Amino acid sequence: MSEKTLFLGSILHCTNDPWTMGAGAIQVIDNGYLAVQDGLIAAVGDASDLSADRLDEYTSVDYRGHYIVPGFIDGHLHYPQTGVMASYGTQLLEWLNKYTFPAEAKFSDEHYAASAAEFFVKELLRNGTTSALAFATVHEQSVNAIFKAASEVNLRFASGKVMMDRNCPENLRDTAASGYEASQRLIDQWHGTKRLSYAVTPRFAPTSSDEQLKLSGQLFNDNEGVYLQSHVAENQTEIAWVAELFPWSRSYLDVYDHFGLLGERAVYGHCIYLNETDLDRLASSNSVAAFCPTSNLFLGSGLFDLVGARARGVNTVMATDVGGGTSFSMLRTADEAYKVTQMAGNTVTPLQLFYEMTLGAAKALSIDHQVGSFAIGKEADFVVLDPKATPVLEQRIDLATTIDEVLFAFIVLGDDRCTLATHLMGNAAYLRA
Ligand code: GUN
Ligand code: ZN
Repeated sequence: MSEKTLFLGSILHCTNDPWTMGAGAIQVIDNGYLAVQDGLIAAVGDASDLSADRLDEYTSVDYRGHYIVPGFIDGHLHYPQTGVMASYGTQLLEWLNKYTFPAEAKFSDEHYAASAAEFFVKELLRNGTTSALAFATVHEQSVNAIFKAASEVNLRFASGKVMMDRNCPENLRDTAASGYEASQRLIDQWHGTKRLSYAVTPRFAPTSSDEQLKLSGQLFNDNEGVYLQSHVAENQTEIAWVAELFPWSRSYLDVYDHFGLLGERAVYGHCIYLNETDLDRLASSNSVAAFCPTSNLFLGSGLFDLVGARARGVNTVMATDVGGGTSFSMLRTADEAYKVTQMAGNTVTPLQLFYEMTLGAAKALSIDHQVGSFAIGKEADFVVLDPKATPVLEQRIDLATTIDEVLFAFIVLGDDRCTLATHLMGNAAYLRA
């Protein structure tokens, strides 16, 4: 890429929070440009205002006829589980034992891990995802493999070694001490390099001893800027098991709270069965709930109440949860999110869904000073969406009279076929053939 590049197309991004600002939270420029310099947004505006001199200063890339939107953010998924997607017939605990643990055991082989990591990063980019928070496996080198693959394309990416020292197969088990030491080594090696962050990753309360949860809390609290990722309140059988394992706890979430595992950058997958005290605790601790609609439906887990959680001030992100989830596409994910809110009689707006996978997710993950919108100085991560990707999408967008309708058509009818290009810090990291 030359030093200054101008991307021409229809610009669409959130400038504010549509949950509080409504329609005023979006900027739309039909005949727009995005100027990128040194990987950062240098200017955004109407192309018809550009003088001939200004045009000469820049190299231009013509995406006219397409929508340029901020890269999507996937707040919870598992890189070793791409091959687990579409595993038939089970719910959470049986699904873990029957499909997921055997798949994760294969990551003891570093060549296997390297090729899975490469495949995974390509899938993210093909789906327009430019930032993600992902689980690796219990194997230390599985984290090296995914960080290497992510850094090669300069993805904004957080991951970490799964910690589990009980209630799992022997070949996937660490110990409280070995899990702590391996995590600290990985933090020292990778956290803060390029666009990578470390995420302390106790899988979920049932597979960690008290000692391991305590040490997870130390890792999270002693290392500036690291994430904490885990699962909570996904499935009723799981919840009953946690109550047995931690009889002193007020709730499942309370187990994590007890060990210092809530706070800014603590991201919990699912959060389906939280009571009001739990939701208030998530909100007051600035923790994050990851809404994983395709996974919650596929595993028969339940319906997350996005509107209820937001109303209580909980930070939320949307997430594919591959491989419990059924698609890498954040458009497919937003479509299922819409349907789940419909089931609760709470209809969310297209703009709210768009925010949840761009600026809102960036805010929840504390990276909104870097990505999530096209504010000047942010990193130029964007997706170019093709409104003619399929005949049905093209027909529906032709009929649209408002930007909300266009966005909604992409969400309900779109998928990876809509990604014409994905750019990371201005550079094309994926171009559709
Ligand atoms: N709970 C603990 N581990 C997992 C996992 O890998 N996927 C999902 N969906 N839930 C979990
Ligand atoms: Zn998960």
